[in-house]
Amino acid sequence: MNRIFSGVQPTGDLHLGNYLGAIRNFVDLQNDYECIYCVVDLHAITVWQDPRELSHATREVTAAFIAAGIDPTTGIIFNQSQVAAHAQLAWIFNCVARLGWLNRMTQFKEKAGKHRENASVGLYAYPNLMAADILAYKATHVPVGEDQKQHLELTRDIAQKFNNDFGVEFFPMVEPLIFGEGTRVMSLRDGTKKMSKSDPSNQSRITFTDSADDIAKKIRRAKTDPDALPSDPDGLEGRPEAANLVGIYAALAGTTSASVLKEFGGRGFGDFKPALADLAVEKLSPISDEMRRLMADPVNIDAILADGADRACAIADPIRKEINDIVGLISA
Ligand code: AMP
Ligand code: TRP
Repeated sequence: MNRIFSGVQPTGDLHLGNYLGAIRNFVDLQNDYECIYCVVDLHAITVWQDPRELSHATREVTAAFIAAGIDPTTGIIFNQSQVAAHAQLAWIFNCVARLGWLNRMTQFKEKAGKHRENASVGLYAYPNLMAADILAYKATHVPVGEDQKQHLELTRDIAQKFNNDFGVEFFPMVEPLIFGEGTRVMSLRDGTKKMSKSDPSNQSRITFTDSADDIAKKIRRAKTDPDALPSDPDGLEGRPEAANLVGIYAALAGTTSASVLKEFGGRGFGDFKPALADLAVEKLSPISDEMRRLMADPVNIDAILADGADRACAIADPIRKEINDIVGLISA
């Protein structure tokens, strides 16, 4: 049986990259698969989080999931720390994964930066917890943005090694689902850098909480080059900012860069940017309005998370017992 699992960290404002690379695909998949979507608060604390902001951000990601169109009654939405199986399986995977594997993880190198010795042990072991998130449910497919590909390869390595070490065919080989035009949305200030929550400039990203005015301003000020748009995608070669804005337009409009360029080829950014701003506002405003409405009732959000956690537990618990059995850990 096919089962989808994915997670989003509650660390700061969600942005257009999170939406186009991940959340929008979560919505599309829910009709065809059993879907489990997790707000990964245990991943968030691998770097320092203010406790009050963390719980607020957890509710905000939950609200964003629902506002974007995920149905929490057919699928499951919950926060990671409410289901103990994640942390338990992560420990087992700490004992399966090899140091050499984790040493290759580019996200750790980026996040730890020059102060590697000062990074938390949790940040280093982060990919093992991610593997546990997915495999605690024996999920088969994982929708993510391009940047998570390496972590999913590690998940497969862990599953494979566990199966080999214990002589079982227990964990499935997880398939990444990386699709659509927005798998790697770039910064509005620098087309060679990924749009990210941690970029110090908030001009670099469009967030779910931006007003229509903010969105229009950020797009107007987005870095571009002086040339007109080409009429086919080959002409975007060597023009990362132009390629990014065209890609964003295509992703929002549900079409391809080629067809956007058919319409806008030969025209300058003076024409293109207002059209992009209108489209972004049209797609994002209803989501941010709905998020605000949901956030006004945090008790309701907490009830949705608790219900999701109960249903997640019901799936994970029998699997956890089987894993304990395989490893030789006695459980009731
Ligand atoms: P995170 O905010 O790191 O928890 O990411 C949540 C999801 O958004 C993951 O599936 C990421 O791969 C995806 N994502 C984050 N940044 C981008 C980006 N700039 N472009 C496309 N997808 C992204
Ligand atoms: N590491 C992912 C990110 O930063 C978030 C994540 C945690 C995740 N656990 C997951 C994604 C399991 C997919 C499946 O984007």
